[in-house]
Amino acid sequence: MNQSLKIADTVRCDVLIIGGGGAGLRCAAEILERRPGTSIIAATKVSHVQKSHTTTAQGGVAAVDPRDTSDSNEFHMFDTWKGSDCMADQVVIKQVIDSAWEQILWLENHGMHFSRDENGRLARRTFGGHTINYGKGIAYRVKFEADRTGKGIMDTGWWETLKAGTTYLGQTLATELIIEDGRCLGAVLYEAKKGQFTVVLARATIVTTGGLGQIYQVTSNCRGNTGDGPALALQAGLPVMDLEAVQFHPTGIVGPGILASEALRGEGGILRNKDGEAFMERYAPTNKDLAPRDIVSRAIETEIREGRGVLNPDHNIWHVWIDIRHLPDYVHDVKLPEISGFFKKFVNIDPKKELAPVRPTCHYQMGGIPTDRWGRVQSDQETYVHGLYAIGECAAASLHGFNRLGTNSLLELITMGRIVGEKVVEWLGDSEQGRDLKHPPDPGAKSLERFSAYLEPGGDQKAGQVREEMRALMTEKVGVFRTGEGLSQAIEGLKELKSRADKSPLVQRGLVMNQELMERFELDNLLAVAMIIAQGALERKESRGGHFREDYPVRSDEFNYHTLAWMEEFGEVTWGRRPIDRCLFEEKTCQYVEGFDFIERKY
Ligand code: FUM
Repeated sequence: MNQSLKIADTVRCDVLIIGGGGAGLRCAAEILERRPGTSIIAATKVSHVQKSHTTTAQGGVAAVDPRDTSDSNEFHMFDTWKGSDCMADQVVIKQVIDSAWEQILWLENHGMHFSRDENGRLARRTFGGHTINYGKGIAYRVKFEADRTGKGIMDTGWWETLKAGTTYLGQTLATELIIEDGRCLGAVLYEAKKGQFTVVLARATIVTTGGLGQIYQVTSNCRGNTGDGPALALQAGLPVMDLEAVQFHPTGIVGPGILASEALRGEGGILRNKDGEAFMERYAPTNKDLAPRDIVSRAIETEIREGRGVLNPDHNIWHVWIDIRHLPDYVHDVKLPEISGFFKKFVNIDPKKELAPVRPTCHYQMGGIPTDRWGRVQSDQETYVHGLYAIGECAAASLHGFNRLGTNSLLELITMGRIVGEKVVEWLGDSEQGRDLKHPPDPGAKSLERFSAYLEPGGDQKAGQVREEMRALMTEKVGVFRTGEGLSQAIEGLKELKSRADKSPLVQRGLVMNQELMERFELDNLLAVAMIIAQGALERKESRGGHFREDYPVRSDEFNYHTLAWMEEFGEVTWGRRPIDRCLFEEKTCQYVEGFDFIERKY
């Protein structure tokens, strides 16, 4: 081992939050409101928590206003269940949706600037798959702050946690969870600014690292969304769940894949093919452009495959158009100001006057670290790791099943953030948990070994090249459409890429602000989650939500379970199953009980 690597420091706190996005900040705010003085460290990979990916979230938060007599929580629950392709856990659906409105009020009362309508009420819009009367009409239940709702949530969470006292560590990676006898004692951090490894002993540890979109070439995700949370869990011998369920958002801006919010269609935008045809009518006769994302993304890919797409000459990328030329200036200028700017900046298009080029972009990971409804991390089918929680995109409770409805992710961040905050406070108050965590004998040994290997010279491969090849491979073989043959090729390709990654020496060998070192760490995380996605997709011989197998194009009851996957050695995956919770159907507590059975999914 490289002799210079050692644990430089050990610090103690009540709560360690790994990641500083919307879920982490909402959770920290709840803990601090309920238990002032709790010592919280939030360690994030980005330079400042405000640069977390939540900040980029555009369209809004779904929450039924209890005064709205046309809508109901039960309609929202039904939409979420149907949208998930009957794979979400109903106990989580109910818990999240029943607490949605109180979280809108919490945000509003803590200073978030929700957009308002002409009567001064919270403005509302619709998103795909959100309906009233169990699919019979459109639901306008999405609350928003123009097209920068995530920024509003981050500003609110940042201020609340800052004023109540939180230590933020930027440019810091969590390299290892410290788990002893089924209890999490904290984590090992690599603090890039100091160039040191630090052990943080925490009475509760919360993983909130966000998504993994960087495994694909075109993604709406930030550069740092590299599956670090699920990879951390795998490395600790814990399972991940349903990773094969990846969401492609239908309208990424051609080129970078940056999001052109679904709010565009919610406000009346129409998708058109090269002939100007509003083609969604053929794929979803009732909901058309407002069908859920998996259906719209497949429709766009089909249009392109069948020769009705358009080739963008600058990027050499096939796409379709989104037409928002007919929307009033007020919608362009006040409700969607950011997106108009993105089109101008990235494709030099004025969407008031011109058709705008879009195509599916990897947007969201429905699966993640398996947790119960309180965010407690599962270690196998029956047991949980004490003191370890996960929330947000890196976690799977599961609210979204195999396809998430737009605006249900910000909803999940704020509701699960609050609920987990409450549970963590209960955990901290439990006298048995003791204040003084015993220092484990050799924390960090795995991290030091891993980073030493990165820093040791040897081989002639380039990590950056391997990363790009992996993204191309995943895009080609594990994208919107999948086949058994393509998935098998992807698995073999990933094994080869991993062995090349292990032979890619770094040019920079120092520990302080070594970007190359951080990217090398990310590459292993990306390869690990990509491998689980490819293998999970191969195992699941059916089509469901965001997972579509051309060789098994229909949903099959045989696969009515969540996939659990463990991977201690790269490529060697062990499988398990978790049942889908169907309490709304089984307990018959809702009006339309049959709607919560394994229903047919038509829009
Ligand atoms: O299209 C959007 O504005 C994205 C929203 C979401 O993913 O929930």
